Amino acid sequence: MKHTLLPLTEFTARREKLFAQMTDNSVALFIANNEVTRSNDTEYLFCQDKDFYYLTGFNEPDAILMMVKGEQNKVVLFCRAKDPFQEVWHGRRVGPENAKKEYGFDESYALEEADAQITESLGNKNTLYYLQGKSERHEQQVYQWRNSVIAKSRQGIAAPEILVNVAPIVHDMRLMKSPSELALMRTVNHISGKAHTRAMEKTQAGAFEYQIEAELLHEFARHGARHAAYNSIVAGGDNANILHYNDNCDILNDGDLLLIDAGGELAGYAADITRTFPISGKFTEPQKAIYQLVLDAQQAAIQAIKPGTDLALLNQLVCEKLTDGLLTLGILEGEKTALLESKACKKYFIHGLGHWLGLDVHDVGDYHVNESREQKRTFEPGMVMTIEPGLYFPSDDENIEEKWRGIAVRIEDNILVTDQGHENLTTNAPKSIEEIETLMAGN
Ligand code: GLY
Ligand code: MN
Ligand code: MN
Repeated sequence: MKHTLLPLTEFTARREKLFAQMTDNSVALFIANNEVTRSNDTEYLFCQDKDFYYLTGFNEPDAILMMVKGEQNKVVLFCRAKDPFQEVWHGRRVGPENAKKEYGFDESYALEEADAQITESLGNKNTLYYLQGKSERHEQQVYQWRNSVIAKSRQGIAAPEILVNVAPIVHDMRLMKSPSELALMRTVNHISGKAHTRAMEKTQAGAFEYQIEAELLHEFARHGARHAAYNSIVAGGDNANILHYNDNCDILNDGDLLLIDAGGELAGYAADITRTFPISGKFTEPQKAIYQLVLDAQQAAIQAIKPGTDLALLNQLVCEKLTDGLLTLGILEGEKTALLESKACKKYFIHGLGHWLGLDVHDVGDYHVNESREQKRTFEPGMVMTIEPGLYFPSDDENIEEKWRGIAVRIEDNILVTDQGHENLTTNAPKSIEEIETLMAGN
């Protein structure tokens, strides 16, 4: 289960940074994910809670991280005890002793000791930090611990009076990627680009969408990213008009486009890449027109990324490009200013332009800077985001000319904000019409 490729010091530094933002005489608690049943007594492949992982690098279910800020700060991990019988059936466990040695915790104990120790540590502390709004399980567990301190009030022990949501602190830290994190994100992008290339090479009419999905997964794993970061979207023809389509069970038809939205996960870090290409290897004229328009809009947005700019500005640029193009193609009609004002292009560009990317595919981090939620946060070096404009024309939309119906195009790259501007991490997945057609001509 151990899979961190980051140095131990990276995790220690993160905890130090969090300690520095906690008030004196406080405790922070983080809870790992549980395993989730898939069928009867078998589970889905385990995925760690990403906040917990960010602070620990510890990849086992059921664990608890306790950070105590006092005269001397203390980091404690509670985890599953070693158990030869369970380990023969279900796999090795790190165990408290090794956890302390290998992960740099000050103390580590078996889970069975957690309730008593956490209750004791919370006694007479002023503030309790935890991830509010995470899940019912999370909330209940934290309240249970706090209530067990309250139950000791007759012994003169006080429970923390101040409960603070630690999410904004941790999520702000997660938003700014370190050099080691960026190295992983470059690698997982490179691997995922190879997977998209392979998918283009293997695509042929008559194949099933899931067979192309298998090519992606094969390529991810072959290069060290064992898992997909999210369910791969392999959507032929009109299926791509369903944004989060992942049935992936239809046959691919000659003349249709294939939209693939897929990224590998490496040491917890996600790539999130979309490519759209013709199943035959050659775009039809209407497909070409829509594809080039989306590509131009995407490139305009990427070019504008630099410190100080923001997502609102990129959206404006993209909407202008798309509106111009849709007017030229006769899909939108009217006066440009009025169309921009009414956001007419959103009829066909039906989702957001992008999102933060990191340990979660839709990564954490506030998108706004003020309480009113009006002003978008400006970009800073170290942030990574996706840029993914798209245009969607469902096959049953009788308000558009027949030639556009059933076309859906999204193009998505992963972009790092740098001091100088930006770095596109998605460099090796063919994107221009010429690159795609040339690659697929060899099929
Ligand atoms: N893969 C989901 C998204 O692009 O947001
Ligand atoms: Mn995506
Ligand atoms: Mn995305």
